[in-house]
Amino acid sequence: MKIKSEKINPTKKKTALLCTFVYEKSKSVLGLNEVDSKLGGLLKASLKETDGKAGTLNIIHTHGKVPAQRILLAGLGEKKKVNYDLVRIVTGKIAQKARDLGISEYSIFIPTDFELDIIPLIKTIVEGSELALYSFDKYKKEKNKKSPDLSILIEHSGNIEDVIKKTQKVCQGVIFARDIANLPPNDCPPQQLARFAKSLASQYKLKCTVMSKNEIRQKGCGGITAVGGGSKNEPKLIILEYNGKRGEKPVVVVGKAVTFDTGGISIKPSEKMDEMKFDKCGGCTVFGVMKTVSALKLPVNVVGIIPAVENMPGGEAYRPGDIIKLYNEKTAEILNTDAEGRLILADALAYGKKNYSPKCIVDFATLTGACIVALGANVAGIIGNDGKLISKIKQAAENTSEQVWQLPIDDDYMEMIKSDVADIKNTGGGRGAGTITGAAFLAHSVDKIPWVHFDIAGTAWTQQGTKEKSYNPKGATGYGVRLLIEFLSNS
Ligand code: BES
Ligand code: MN
Ligand code: ZN
Repeated sequence: MKIKSEKINPTKKKTALLCTFVYEKSKSVLGLNEVDSKLGGLLKASLKETDGKAGTLNIIHTHGKVPAQRILLAGLGEKKKVNYDLVRIVTGKIAQKARDLGISEYSIFIPTDFELDIIPLIKTIVEGSELALYSFDKYKKEKNKKSPDLSILIEHSGNIEDVIKKTQKVCQGVIFARDIANLPPNDCPPQQLARFAKSLASQYKLKCTVMSKNEIRQKGCGGITAVGGGSKNEPKLIILEYNGKRGEKPVVVVGKAVTFDTGGISIKPSEKMDEMKFDKCGGCTVFGVMKTVSALKLPVNVVGIIPAVENMPGGEAYRPGDIIKLYNEKTAEILNTDAEGRLILADALAYGKKNYSPKCIVDFATLTGACIVALGANVAGIIGNDGKLISKIKQAAENTSEQVWQLPIDDDYMEMIKSDVADIKNTGGGRGAGTITGAAFLAHSVDKIPWVHFDIAGTAWTQQGTKEKSYNPKGATGYGVRLLIEFLSNS
């Protein structure tokens, strides 16, 4: 969609839909008093008891009394509870309403005395609008209606246009992640992810390396080799490098990309197994991050590493009981082939650590169902080994409203994945703390490098228990892209 800012009196604005906000029980239409007097008090008169409740939309026709054809009053709830995420949700709803009306443009008026700070406010309006209008219609004959253009009417002068443009680039990164994540598993094997990586790299002058099954095995990545063995869609190890600052250590970002997780020989029950097409979402977050850092030309170095496999049962599949050797030289006993994510991530993390001497490592993975049990579908679990890095991540999460909650890790949890016959085993053995034992397995690959692991099993796509938010329409959410870009922008 096109988004621009305009300094114009709302009484003069010719638009199909002029939107502003109303608070619960306040009986005032923010900033539109002049418009209302031209309408003979119609706006205030039409304020109902329910108006102003968070998320309500009330449309009033102006019948030519002002250049705007319709006024939309969008409820923001109680004034003292207003926050940026609510603005994101409400402006997302406004965008969807404008689209459904079939109009080609609409306007949102920002009153001068609005509660929130102008720059983050503009960001959230752009995010709400862009992200709420997303829909995955690649496979449908009937496509969604075209996105309308938005004018943000605002008194403020300054770098508003620049903030809009940058935020739109971030949204394009989120949408890129969603578009790949939503692909069905038959159209998105590891090889297809490799193609996406190559085309992204040529578009943005990134360095791209794709390792084949043989190269992966020769390098000693026993985890990726084992998990990828059961599928005729061979595994790939995808690496994308962005250099925005000479002579500085990179941030390594790793993402789990299991293009479909059947569970392998430890096969999953069939109920909701289709959702395991989203088991590639961590890798897709990395795609979104790499696209966005390059589009924004951020002054940082980032290496994205995406181990891509399909976890299938079959004659060449790995088995419970197998002992494999990981890239970090440690041996792992397989107790459950459905705990595959940690095996491919262990290789990718250790590969990143050894070959790129990173200043820190972050990983995203739909790693454990246990994370949904612990935190639900709206909060990602984070686990790390460095207080400073963890607090930066928490701050970034706060700023983008992508919620995180830290879980503990210590030697007692490390004990839980010790194996009788190998160095470590790939499950904690059913004694609870599934998300933490998953992370404990990964911790063996990062050692002392500052590291944060994101378990995005709940947040990567809309599922049972997901809080409805306009800007996260059905399907993959692109969780983590905005958060990591916020982190990289401040680091
Ligand atoms: N991809 C799944 C985790 C998952 C399950 C994410 C449901 C979102 C929704 C992962 O590979 C997995 O199967 N994990 C197992 C680990 C267990 C066998 C130790 C799990 O969570 O049950
Ligand atoms: Mn699994
Ligand atoms: Zn999985």
